[in-house]
Amino acid sequence: KTIFVLNGPNLNMLGKREPGIYGGKTLKDIEDDCRVAGRELDFEIDFRQSNHEGLLVDWLHEAGEKAVGVAINAGAYTHTSLALHDAIKAISIPVVELHISNVHAREEFRHHSMIAAACKGVICGFGPSSYILALHALKSINT
Ligand code: DQA
Repeated sequence: KTIFVLNGPNLNMLGKREPGIYGGKTLKDIEDDCRVAGRELDFEIDFRQSNHEGLLVDWLHEAGEKAVGVAINAGAYTHTSLALHDAIKAISIPVVELHISNVHAREEFRHHSMIAAACKGVICGFGPSSYILALHALKSINT
């Protein structure tokens, strides 16, 4: 069983990027943590990052063919992208939206998600552990 873990814009900068908000772990560290959790949960992890909205759309479509679920940190596209909303609606596997930071405790423009209503559920505010919690959430609906 494969889970796609998809990462949107600027998440390749983790570790260097606003460490006070996002912490010191790099995306590679988070990928490694997801692989450990994947082994525990009996999931194959396909971990990807792109700064390009259309590529994330393509990957969601691909996940619909190859995966049993998606955990997505769409970064800033969370707050803007109708295309990601529609791509999530277009596939029949569960998608969990996740964020490292608690977006609701931050600027007003981060309070609304364009994709949440298309997702199975949302996890935010637990630091890099949000990724692991999203994998557990997918496990709980995939057993
Ligand atoms: C984020 C929160 C978004 O508002 C922001 O644009 C990001 C990261 C998070 O993981 O906390 O790029 O998705």
